[in-house]
Amino acid sequence: MTKKQDLAWWQKTIAYEIYPKSFYDTAAQGTGTIAGITAKLDYLASLGVGAIWITPCYKSPMVDNGYDVEDYRQIDPSFGTMADMDELIAKGNEKGVRVVMDLVFNHTSEMCPWFVESRSSRDNAYADWYIWRDARPDGSAPTNWRSIFGGSAWEWCEERHQYYLHTFAPQQPDLNWECPEVRKALFDIANYWADKGAGGFRIDAITYIKKPAVFEDGPVDGEDGLSAVHAATANTPGILDFLHEFKAAVRDGRDIFMVGEANGVGPDELGEWVGEHGVFDMLFEFSHSHVPMGEAELWCRPIEWKLTDLKRVLAESQANTADNGWYPVFFENHDQPRSTVNFFRCEGSISDKAKALGTVLLTLRGTPFVMQGEELGYANRVWKSLDEFDDLQTRSQYEFALSEGRTEAEALAGCNRFSRDNARTPMQWDASANAGFSAATPWLPVHDDYTQVNVEAESADPDSTLSWYRKLAALRAERDELVAGSFEELMADDEQVYAYRRQGEAGAAVVLANLSGEEASYDAALVADMKLLAGTHGSTEPGTLRPLEAVVFGD
Ligand code: NOJ
Repeated sequence: MTKKQDLAWWQKTIAYEIYPKSFYDTAAQGTGTIAGITAKLDYLASLGVGAIWITPCYKSPMVDNGYDVEDYRQIDPSFGTMADMDELIAKGNEKGVRVVMDLVFNHTSEMCPWFVESRSSRDNAYADWYIWRDARPDGSAPTNWRSIFGGSAWEWCEERHQYYLHTFAPQQPDLNWECPEVRKALFDIANYWADKGAGGFRIDAITYIKKPAVFEDGPVDGEDGLSAVHAATANTPGILDFLHEFKAAVRDGRDIFMVGEANGVGPDELGEWVGEHGVFDMLFEFSHSHVPMGEAELWCRPIEWKLTDLKRVLAESQANTADNGWYPVFFENHDQPRSTVNFFRCEGSISDKAKALGTVLLTLRGTPFVMQGEELGYANRVWKSLDEFDDLQTRSQYEFALSEGRTEAEALAGCNRFSRDNARTPMQWDASANAGFSAATPWLPVHDDYTQVNVEAESADPDSTLSWYRKLAALRAERDELVAGSFEELMADDEQVYAYRRQGEAGAAVVLANLSGEEASYDAALVADMKLLAGTHGSTEPGTLRPLEAVVFGD
């Protein structure tokens, strides 16, 4: 049985995702700064957070809010300076909050000097650093692949008279990992940040780095005559060889962690991706995110789902990381809508939903990753028109919906439901203007609920979502089984309650979360001889749960 003292620091802590543009602005410019993160370190430490994953803050033209990197060794001036970053790392380390950098290694910005050189001719030093292909005889793109952000995944380059591949936006050309110099350059960048004191890395879009040996058309799956690039290039055989090289060059011998973003890897493959013989410490796989969204992630094609669908994939991920590797638990990130909307099909209070799902987030086996604002109980914002959105994917999903014959109102409804901008609205610190996020007009509108849903108001309210998160974080720190204990699912077929037992060396806990809007029941024998450690609705009657009530029992 796993003992808590044998676990690494990053397995015992709570991780927190920061979208720096929306976190805290110390420069009165409407966008967040690195100094703003340093200013809030005490807040983060008060939540039991020991690692902050900061989405890319490198020099960038910001076509995809930093996921288009121009220079991996510079901080974008909108966020501050390298001195600000060094200070954040140093102060964070003092307070036990380690900085986790986001490595965008599948692609760069088109403004990256490597690409500027590569596109200039077919015989320069960087000529092979990206994926270049000749046109078909009729001049059309080499394949019919649709990029993840819509439109062809190929862009014509006049200078080279060739197309280049971009899995995401045209301004994000894909790197060619087959080229040894590319791999070396990327590993050097990771080591540069590890040497600076980063506590770990989140590695972006890593499943796309290995391209297939033969490029061929895929099956058309929409009215636009294109085929998803994902189907053709995600998780291609041979990818793990590259990643073993990455691990040996960067991870080995360091007290850091690496978590890969791996859309296209299923829970059944976790064994070869994580753990001693794997390539990463943890893997963000998306099988549970796909439950309410569908694997195609086309917002205009809503799907039906049941709680047992969600429980089944989570159980698989738990089973596949029980003895090997470790699981990063998450229900939100900057690419997903807010979980209080995404994972619930019932009416009910947003705060109750946030507390119920937050209970699961903080007590499943693995390292919880909290998305900024999730601990406050954010809802999706109500977006009135396409113009209010910033995100380029939202625009492309809107266009795709129209191409599929949806009305403008239907296309907008899809964006309201799924847009990534729901997770990116500014952090709500207090009830003052702009929610205390910035002295200037924020780059994205603040949610209308900010006068109630904010750090200051919720800190003062013992029944708030934030107070519940703090309570559970403290419980996690106290009760070893909530960190190291095994996971055994209970009531697997139940469509209302998510229930499981965490068995540790010295104690056990049973978690029951009613994720439905109706009263629910369970066998009180499951918690016989146990006491209530925490309950969202105060005292509870063993055997029944009120709508959206969550409880943690322990012996
Ligand atoms: C995944 C990131 O999380 C997302 O925000 C980004 O747009 C794509 N990768 C491209 O880098």
